[in-house]
Amino acid sequence: MTIPEQLTEKLLLALSKVGVEVPEPSRIQVKTADDLRYGDYQSTVAMMLAKPAGKNPRDLATSLMEALDVADLAEVTIAGPGFLNFTLTSETWSSLAKAQWQDENHAVQTVADPQTIVIDFSAPNVAKPMHIGHIRSTIIGECLGRVASRLGHKVIKDNHIGDWGTQFGMVTWAWKKGVNEARLETEPLQELLRLYRSATDACKEDESIKDACREELVALQSGNAENLAIWNRCLALSKKGLNEIYDRLDVSFDHWLGESAYNDALAPLAEKLESQGLARDDDGALCVFSDDSVKPKSDPFKVNRDGEWQDFPMIVRKKDGAFNYATTDIATVEFRANEFKADKVWIVVDVRQGGHFKQLFEVSRRLGYDQLDLVHVAFGTILGKDGKPLKTRSGDLPQLADVLDDAVTAARSVIGEKSHLDTEEEKDALAELIGVNSIKFTELSHHRMSDYVFDLEKMVALEGDTAPYLFYSYVRARSIFRKLEEGTVDKLDAEQLAITEAAEIHLVRMLTRFGDNVGVVIDDFRPNLLATYLLELARSFHSFFEACPVLKSEGATRESRLILCDLTSRVIKDGLNLLGIPVPERM
Ligand code: ARG
Repeated sequence: MTIPEQLTEKLLLALSKVGVEVPEPSRIQVKTADDLRYGDYQSTVAMMLAKPAGKNPRDLATSLMEALDVADLAEVTIAGPGFLNFTLTSETWSSLAKAQWQDENHAVQTVADPQTIVIDFSAPNVAKPMHIGHIRSTIIGECLGRVASRLGHKVIKDNHIGDWGTQFGMVTWAWKKGVNEARLETEPLQELLRLYRSATDACKEDESIKDACREELVALQSGNAENLAIWNRCLALSKKGLNEIYDRLDVSFDHWLGESAYNDALAPLAEKLESQGLARDDDGALCVFSDDSVKPKSDPFKVNRDGEWQDFPMIVRKKDGAFNYATTDIATVEFRANEFKADKVWIVVDVRQGGHFKQLFEVSRRLGYDQLDLVHVAFGTILGKDGKPLKTRSGDLPQLADVLDDAVTAARSVIGEKSHLDTEEEKDALAELIGVNSIKFTELSHHRMSDYVFDLEKMVALEGDTAPYLFYSYVRARSIFRKLEEGTVDKLDAEQLAITEAAEIHLVRMLTRFGDNVGVVIDDFRPNLLATYLLELARSFHSFFEACPVLKSEGATRESRLILCDLTSRVIKDGLNLLGIPVPERM
């Protein structure tokens, strides 16, 4: 039982002792205090129950304080109109630190009802390199996956790549005009991008090329052997290039079920939608319309044009017989429900696709998948320093690989000035780790819906809310043990833990909040809560380290402080790992 749970239980006992009836025991809670000056935990129960019990809240609080049997856990005081405040005792802090230190999970609790969760993230459109916009999905999705598994859920990470769309018509057209085979081997993504761009440029100049590209796509989708062979090679090369980036980012998938995986399901799906009356013909196209069950404002199949509500159907088969993003997505939902037996599906995609997902989720519900919890985990835009969506000088979206390289260069110059490492190789490896992970941490420390300015210098700085600051905190906590004999940590004796100084208490207070801050990440898909928590933990560690000498202290005090250094470093490492970020051992 956690401390607030124990305090709540004792509070319920006290209430019955003083003869106050509790109509809804589940509403009696002891919560983390907002302001530490009033203690560690707080309850408003006296204010809540005084009136029905015919008492004055402060009097009720006083009798509860007398009836409470919590001396072994906390001191109780009363504040204001009748708040009950609990300040944990030194012994309680010591035993909390001991339990967490002895637990390899650092007191992160697993859930009572594990679910099967499919996480759909990254999902770049193949044959175009991944751009910076895909970074948000990739990094957020990986973090959600790690946290959900840690909490005990069964997680299935699926990279739903766009591998069947119009871009293949373009690439195939340009490929046939002349592909650079040598470059395809050395820089596959760059060569594919060149092909794609040469086709888009050609289309701009000559309308007939657009048709030629479309014909290449039709040929591919109707099984033309030459086009299929080109497509297969594009796919293999793209995957190779993408995997290099995923390796760098430390991101992995259980499946790569892209759009093309659902080809065979599309025609029968459209027929089913039609025969069940869920979709109907509209000028040659097959569409899903509103069923008028909700107000137009919240109807995903209505749109307001010039002050008037009009139909906004979801097209599932185009006039020319082709299927689209909507059709594959419905088939994907069915597959995940039926084959993966998913309880939840989290789709991590740009907020601008919100309308599509509202329609998709409603169609899924009408198809009978109402038990499946479908969530669009939306995110905003990365901005340049001018406050506009980030672009390169030539006006293109920056390529992710280039951005990573720039970050590594920026990290390398910071390291050059400050590092204690000896060799250039070690410094290069550290620069790679800091560069890539600074971008990841910056992403995860912002609320996913907020647009943020991409500022490399700030991201790689040692001071500030950055990954390097956390790395430095970790290395500082570990460096103590390098000065001691090998195996010191194993010999530390938790029985001697005595948490007494204010800075020690505050550090343990922060450490014990780890579990809550992990759990909360998947409640509303907010890795930033864990990221911010880790920064705060690191700050409390530095305050402790400045206030409390470790190696110069003696006996139980030294033992306790060494345990706190070890525990802090482990929690920082564990927390960063849940964000998808590895730590350096030296800097
Ligand atoms: N390929 C899409 C894009 O880059 C994202 C796909 C997300 N997943 C999905 N099931 N729609 O915009």
